[in-house]
Amino acid sequence: MASAAFQVEGALDEDGRAPSVWDVFARRPGTVRDGHSPAVACDHYHRWEQDVDLLDRLGVNAYRFSIAWPRVVPTGRGAVNGAGLDFYDRLVDALLERGVAPVPTLFHWDLPQALEEEGGWSARGTAPAFAEYAAAAADRLGDRVDRWITLNEPLVHMVYGHVFGVHAPGRTLDVPGALEVAHHLLLAHGLAAGELRSRGLEVLLTNNYSPAEPATGADAGAARAYDALHNRLFTDPVLTGAYPDLSAFTAGEVPGVREGDLDLIAGSADGIGVNYYNPTPVTAPDEGSGLPFGFGEVPGAPVTAFGWPVVPEGLGRMIDLLRARYGDALPPLYVTENGCSYEDSVSVGGRVADPDRIAYLEGHVAAVEAARERGADVRGYFVWTLTDNFEWAEGYHQRFGLVHVDHGTQRRTPKDSFAWYRELIASRTGGQSPTASKGPLS
Ligand code: BGC
Repeated sequence: MASAAFQVEGALDEDGRAPSVWDVFARRPGTVRDGHSPAVACDHYHRWEQDVDLLDRLGVNAYRFSIAWPRVVPTGRGAVNGAGLDFYDRLVDALLERGVAPVPTLFHWDLPQALEEEGGWSARGTAPAFAEYAAAAADRLGDRVDRWITLNEPLVHMVYGHVFGVHAPGRTLDVPGALEVAHHLLLAHGLAAGELRSRGLEVLLTNNYSPAEPATGADAGAARAYDALHNRLFTDPVLTGAYPDLSAFTAGEVPGVREGDLDLIAGSADGIGVNYYNPTPVTAPDEGSGLPFGFGEVPGAPVTAFGWPVVPEGLGRMIDLLRARYGDALPPLYVTENGCSYEDSVSVGGRVADPDRIAYLEGHVAAVEAARERGADVRGYFVWTLTDNFEWAEGYHQRFGLVHVDHGTQRRTPKDSFAWYRELIASRTGGQSPTASKGPLS
């Protein structure tokens, strides 16, 4: 099961937390659909015990959550806020008491605003600041948490936040500017990996992956360009020590790369987190878009409330592609996010029927299992997400949870998919506590 701090916690001003780029961005008119505010989100900061109980009922043996950098190091670098770490300390203990392995992500897009004001990810200095924060978090939790994720979906943060400007920090950089952001994110990952590994901890990098499939034979070049951006930009440097061919985007080199950077980034992951939602059918570029590709549709595929095509085999194809592409350099994989949004509502009887979500998850779990049978080393599967939460620019409109949340009352109602997933886990663990099982993390 997976979640992220800014999407669930609320309590943005409590216990010494300072604003993140998302606090500031979401206050700007027009940035979040219907002006929804993240101030309370799922109130998880106060209701975390209830949420941990839900995880316990579900029977998962691992929980991926994110630590909010602006709670731990409110000004981005320098003084560590002990009260911020206390929250995660309590959460980790409560998870462990229930036999749930805590898997924290250090950066799920909530950069301290103080760093943004110094240039954010365009500034090289943000990378060592991230490593300092990683060290502080590991010093507090590393005695109980052994597997850490550095960054969540740096590509999405770069493209949505720094090129299209539809996510925080809302910047609209050109291609070289965006690639410089990418490099600093990778450098941050590499430096943080050094800190974590020096403490004997395991390091994962989580990327969003989507098989880029030519919608027609004539679109192969466009699909290659999209693949380089979406699937390779944040993976090739880590697994091969080099940037992919980015000639469809720029004639120049990736800016900001200094001697030694790629050596530090190479080999810096003990596992790769795969977030998968859908494949991307690629067409020839749309005229005037300025992009070297266009987007098509998957004929006949059902779509989620977000309009994303449901193609479970796409996850299997993506795993196969990663194996074929990187061979022995590919470390173990973890599906760190997979899920779907639908317009769920609570019926008069208090039930939330979400058959489409059950079908989605069933198909994707089967796709992972089939990939494992083909030889893939996939060691975990995390559903996105426990509770309906703040879905970034969509506000509370997209419900991804296995638990419905009434955002007026904060009432949590497990959906049918919750019962289905609990059954699935119980059937795999022989009805015993999931800790007794040697099965994959779920
Ligand atoms: C992100 C999550 C997000 C989910 C659904 C991923 O891109 O990591 O934060 O809620 O997809 O959009």
